[in-house]
This record gives sequence, structure tokens and C-alpha cells, in this order.
Amino acid sequence: MSSPTETPISVTRTRSPAQRPADNTLAFGKVFTDHMFMMDYTEGKGWHDPRVVPYGPLTLDPATSVLHYGQAIFDGLKAYRGEGGKIRLFRAQRHAERLNKSARALCMPELDADLVRRSFEAIVGVDHEWVPSTPGTSLYIRPTIIATDVMLGVHPSHSYTYFVICSPVGAYYKEGVKPVRILASDNHVRAVKGGLGEAKTAANYAASLSGQAEAERAGYTQVLWLDGVERKWIDEVGTMNIMMQIGDEVITPPLAGTILDGVTRNSILQLLRDWGHKVSERKISIDEVMEAGRNGTLKEMWGTGTAAVVSPVGELGYKGENIKIGNGQTGALTQKLYDAIIGIQYGHSNDPHGWTS
Ligand code: COI
Repeated sequence: MSSPTETPISVTRTRSPAQRPADNTLAFGKVFTDHMFMMDYTEGKGWHDPRVVPYGPLTLDPATSVLHYGQAIFDGLKAYRGEGGKIRLFRAQRHAERLNKSARALCMPELDADLVRRSFEAIVGVDHEWVPSTPGTSLYIRPTIIATDVMLGVHPSHSYTYFVICSPVGAYYKEGVKPVRILASDNHVRAVKGGLGEAKTAANYAASLSGQAEAERAGYTQVLWLDGVERKWIDEVGTMNIMMQIGDEVITPPLAGTILDGVTRNSILQLLRDWGHKVSERKISIDEVMEAGRNGTLKEMWGTGTAAVVSPVGELGYKGENIKIGNGQTGALTQKLYDAIIGIQYGHSNDPHGWTS
């Protein structure tokens, strides 16, 4: 039997390639490329038949377990066309490893991380013409695993499908990096310790919808999630990790079971440490942040994620009080971090940690 790194990936090309959209029309995740990667898992056989095939609908029996019990995981990374037209993937191996972490949390069979990385390279290789080139654009890659047993019993599936689809995307924020207003919610929680908060699973995003809708109704862009037990400790913002600068300390909540181990989070913490900043991965309460906002020591706050990269927070609401962060504009450190990550992703600056491949 060949080892996963040698496993051949077959390629079947579409006979009807789609018209590629102009870069200036790209939004987020609305248009998909001509092909997708697929691989199946059968108990006793393991993962098999890795293949690139024309993009198209999946045919699922209505009793397929993923449709009922949500045994589904995904990840998200990007390919960038930068210096000299070269295409770079950002931290592909780390994303492959995180997919396996999510698989473990959802009782799914792990994949060989090298084969997952090769699946990204294979699909981007076949659809390379779909990687846009205008600054701020990229190809978003969405690996997904779904449970495919046809049964209504509640237990882990014995069969799965892994697929990778790709979408050319524009800059997450059309007007560039722009501060958002966020609302700390004490009505809704996203995750609790011992639950699924650190997995990238469909359920977490379903659980976020009502809190997000409430924040929008109140005129905010995103929810600031507080912990599910004491409703006191800050977890995440929207679908992103959260960071802030209070005095000379950059603080982000620790990876303690309820938040996602963000790849952008990890990259930014590394850059901050490289630059000599004081960085703390520690519990931080909403009361400490509100007090820092009142006494003027809360200098900057930003969310981090693959989709938006870095998203500045200009205003925070909690229990009817609103505090402006800095002067409500994008802070200097937030902007510097955004520029540094983008520079590495597009190959405009050097990549001391070997994050692009
Ligand atoms: C990201 O920030 O990359 C996310 O996880 C958002 C995605 C679910 C659209």
C-alpha cells in the first residue's frame, strides 16, 4: 500500500469551464471555481480515492446523518497571488493539522496532514487561473468533512466525505480596514468548556446566529462573546479571535477549550513577540476592559481571522454603556499588524517563519 504522501491524486477536468468574475466584482464566498477535491472514508478501508473532479452538487440521501446531527467540520485558508504572479498558500500545514484537531473533537477519523496539504495544492494547481491578482483579493480554500452514514441513530458515522471547494474573494472590507462596533452579549453564549468551542464545526456557527442577529438589531456589527459560565470572561468576537492593547500589554484570551486556535491569532502573537511587545495570553474580564476604556488605558482592540485578517474595533457596548476605543479610528499597532501579515501573504516582505509555501 502506498503511504499517504505518495497516494496519487487523480484529476478529471471539467468540459465546461465557467466564466471567471472580474476581480473588482468579488465578494466573499459567492463564486466557486471549476473543480473540487474529494476523498471518501469507509470503515475498514480508511480514507481513499483522493481526486480532483468538476465542481458540482453532492447527492445526499435525506437521512444522511450530517443533515440531522451536524457531524461536520471545516477549515479555511487562502492562496495569494503576489510578487511575480507567484501563488502562495499561507500556513497550509497548520490548517491541515487544525482540521485533524476538529476531527478528533467530532469523533471523526483523522486524515494524513500531508495529504490534506497536498489536497490544497492539488486543487489550487488545477484552478490556478482562478487565483485573483488585484491587491486585497485571494482564493479562499474551504476544506470540509461531513458524516455520510444514512441513519437516524445518534452515534458517530462510519463513513465520511472530505471535500475542498475554492472561492475567489475580494477584500473582506470593501473600504479597507475599518473599525467596527461590537456588543458584549450577556444573553447568548457561543461555547462552554468541554463543548465544541475550539473545533471549527458547523454547530458553533449555528450557535452564533441569534446573538449576532441581536447585536445587529441593536446597531452593532459583531458580538463580543463572554464565557458561558460566569458571563464575565472574554472569549471571541464574531467568528474571530480578539486581542487588545491595555497600557503597554497586548492581551488575548488563552486557548483553554472554548475558543478557536486561530492561525492568524498564532501568527500575530508571533509577530508581536518578534517585535518585542509584552504579550499575555490570559483571562480578561469584560469589567477590566470597560474600566480600561473609561480610564483611557484601552488603546486598541482588534479581531483576527483568515477571512478579514485583522479587523479593528472602534467601539464596545456592554449593559447600555458604550466606550470608544482609542479615537475610534484604526490604531497604529492594528494597522502595522495588518500590513505585516498581508506583506508576508503576498510575498512583498520576507517570511522569517516560513509561513508561505
Ligand atoms: C475567519 O475569520 O476566517 C472565519 O472563520 C470566518 C469564516 C467562517 C467565514
